[in-house]
Amino acid sequence: MNRHFFAAAWLCLFYGTGASPALADESADTSHLRVLAGSCAACHGTNGNSVGGTPVLAGLTPAYFIARMQAFRAGKLDSTVMHHHAQGLTEDEITLLADYFSRQARVTSRAPTAENH
Ligand code: HEC
Repeated sequence: MNRHFFAAAWLCLFYGTGASPALADESADTSHLRVLAGSCAACHGTNGNSVGGTPVLAGLTPAYFIARMQAFRAGKLDSTVMHHHAQGLTEDEITLLADYFSRQARVTSRAPTAENH
């Protein structure tokens, strides 16, 4: 009796808030993606907008991004560090990151000079 009550209450809570299993999956994916993309930011800048030294990831097409990551993973592309990072990612994670970075706006920042200010 008690178990049924709790099960029913739980279902009401779950459906009452409009949450669906599909949405729950999506938010889990989103936070996983945020952690993954955050690990790239140290070298590739916020949202993939590198401030120098490393390639800009923002705005890369998914096809190009995936091809580069797979080449790093397979050791087919010269790399100082990226072969390590690529090997730590699954195919699905690479696809998620490719989609994420392709949707980031490419920002080019220029230092202020006497002429442009
Ligand atoms: C420790 C610094 C560092 C981190 C962290 C890092 N990268 Fe890189 N990345 C580089 C460097 C340096 C290169 C240039 C290739 C090389 O020397 O390995 C590069 C190149 C790339 C390229 C190729 C771009 C192009 O136009 O050829 C992609 C794609 C890439 N990184 C994606 C990522 C992703 C995704 C992450 C996070 C999961 C990440 N990187 C984390 C330093 C880093």
